[in-house]
Amino acid sequence: MKSIPLLVGATLTVLTLVSTHAAEKPAAGVSVEQRLQSIMQDTGQKDAAIKAGKKVASFCANCHGNGGTSILPEIPNLAGQNPAYLLVQVDKFKDGRRRNDFMQGMIKALSDEEKVSVVVYYSHQEVKPHSSSDSAQAKRGGELYFKICQRCHGEQGRGNEKIARIAGQQSVYLTSTLKHYRDGTGERTDPLMSANTKKLTDADIGALVAYVSSMK
Ligand code: HEC
Ligand code: HEC
Repeated sequence: MKSIPLLVGATLTVLTLVSTHAAEKPAAGVSVEQRLQSIMQDTGQKDAAIKAGKKVASFCANCHGNGGTSILPEIPNLAGQNPAYLLVQVDKFKDGRRRNDFMQGMIKALSDEEKVSVVVYYSHQEVKPHSSSDSAQAKRGGELYFKICQRCHGEQGRGNEKIARIAGQQSVYLTSTLKHYRDGTGERTDPLMSANTKKLTDADIGALVAYVSSMK
């Protein structure tokens, strides 16, 4: 990730600006999850959140790309991701259940309202499809996918409220994420994903990534 340190410098200098712009605060006693739910059920609130979230997202675009299709294969796309899933990941970075020093710092600098609006914004962006990968590998990956992964991530890889969309996700990011779950290195743990990656070889992971990253 050679290019990341440079981006971090540029991003942190503007971060202080974001916080001073903290938008309307949610009413006291309302959790961020409840706030997200009420926004998603109301078109007017949703439109306002998308607009506010777009401003916050300008600080994320250096890495996650304009509109949430990332510019580097090691950084995840956020476009089209499920908002409740994104919000859970934001919390996991914050409290260290998911480890990435940069993301932890970034998230701590955001207000609750900024977090909610930025996930609403990304969930409404379209994923830019990738060019397809090695077709023999992708074919084997597809077989593994339907055997192991489909029951949770869905036939099209689009997940649901709690489960990540993985269709079209960046290849290097997918590879390292699957290995983190499998190897139990502590960067990222999840009992369901650990159980379902435990028996995968590196070659299985390569095939799965070829398939999943080319799903639309
Ligand atoms: C300097 C680059 C950089 C910037 C800027 C950045 N991120 Fe990230 N982000 C990353 C990397 C790298 C990861 C993957 C971490 C890992 O290995 O799991 C990530 C992961 C995430 C994830 C988890 C995605 C998933 O599929 O699970 C979310 C959510 C996220 N970032 C939100 C944001 C938001 C919101 C902002 C702006 C406020 C932001 N990021 C700014 C580099 C960045
Ligand atoms: C029993 C349900 C279940 C099965 C089966 C399953 N997953 Fe998952 N997956 C999840 C859940 C839940 C998460 C979110 C975990 C977290 O918060 O880290 C997840 C997260 C992921 C992520 C991280 C997404 C991101 O944006 O960072 C990837 C990649 C992934 N799964 C791929 C797979 C693949 C490939 C398979 C098949 C080998 C698979 N999953 C099987 C439930 C499942």
